[in-house]
Amino acid sequence: MGLDAGAGAAGMLNDRDFDTVRELIAHYAGIKLSPQKRNMVYNRLLRRLRACGTASFGDYLALVQARDSSEREAFVNALTTNLTAFFREPHHFELLASHAQARAGQRQPLRVWSSACSTGEEVWSIAMVLREAGCAADIVGTDIDTEVLKTGSGGVYRADRVEGMAPERLRKHFLRGTGANDGLVSVRPELRTGVRFGQLNLQSSAWPAQERHDVIFCRNVVIYFDRESQNRLLARFADLLLPGGLLMVGHSESFPAAHPGFRSCGRTAYERLAGP
Ligand SMILES: C[S@@+](CC[C@H](N)C(=O)[O-])C[C@H]1O[C@@H](n2cnc3c(N)ncnc32)[C@H](O)[C@@H]1O
Repeated sequence: MGLDAGAGAAGMLNDRDFDTVRELIAHYAGIKLSPQKRNMVYNRLLRRLRACGTASFGDYLALVQARDSSEREAFVNALTTNLTAFFREPHHFELLASHAQARAGQRQPLRVWSSACSTGEEVWSIAMVLREAGCAADIVGTDIDTEVLKTGSGGVYRADRVEGMAPERLRKHFLRGTGANDGLVSVRPELRTGVRFGQLNLQSSAWPAQERHDVIFCRNVVIYFDRESQNRLLARFADLLLPGGLLMVGHSESFPAAHPGFRSCGRTAYERLAGP
């Protein structure tokens, strides 16, 4: 690992520091970083080093590990990968729409959990589908990364993020910014009804008590977890889904396939069966 143009005194991310980073992020978030991620780690943490005014990666990592360190959160935030999009993997939203249509007009809201929601596009896509189906919504978006949650709950995006969305859908659910907000869109207040955001670490043993859900989205996050963590998570999702409820996972994640409590019901979608 060399220095980048502005690395200055921060210097190298040596083998020992890189190993420490990998151990810490596995411990805090369950994220397995491959050795190929060294450059990424270097660039992302260099910004934190500078923000904290620490002289070396060694000093910075000591700060992260200090008791009650306020830097730990920023360390985790810096190392998460937050790629997402509105209506990403659209087949899940088609399935959700038919599930929601069956509940249309009922007072009982459809309870949906977006469990690694990143900057919120997944949450707002769910909210749009439920609203279009005339189905009351109780949607919670959670993520380990506190920075992305701010964007999600703000509900304000660059207009290019909604390019490709049907114009009618865009008009129905978003307001276009003007003046200083030109180039931005904001979700309409009506869409915010029944939508909440909060921090939750999927690897933590202590989750807040939750009622059972009709649908759980857990997409494009367990690829970073080891098999044991995936199975543990799946058992918890099985407990938290109502019979007939749906679990949506990412395009390269088939971890629920072997679980006796689930049956496949479409591309990377699983239905919770009745029983244990
Ligand atoms: C690639 S994004 C996926 C976003 C969205 N689900 C999608 O498919 O478009 C992965 C998200 O998982 C979050 N994440 C990583 N480890 C986590 C953990 N242990 N608990 C909760 N969220 C986590 C990251 O912060 C990131 O926002």
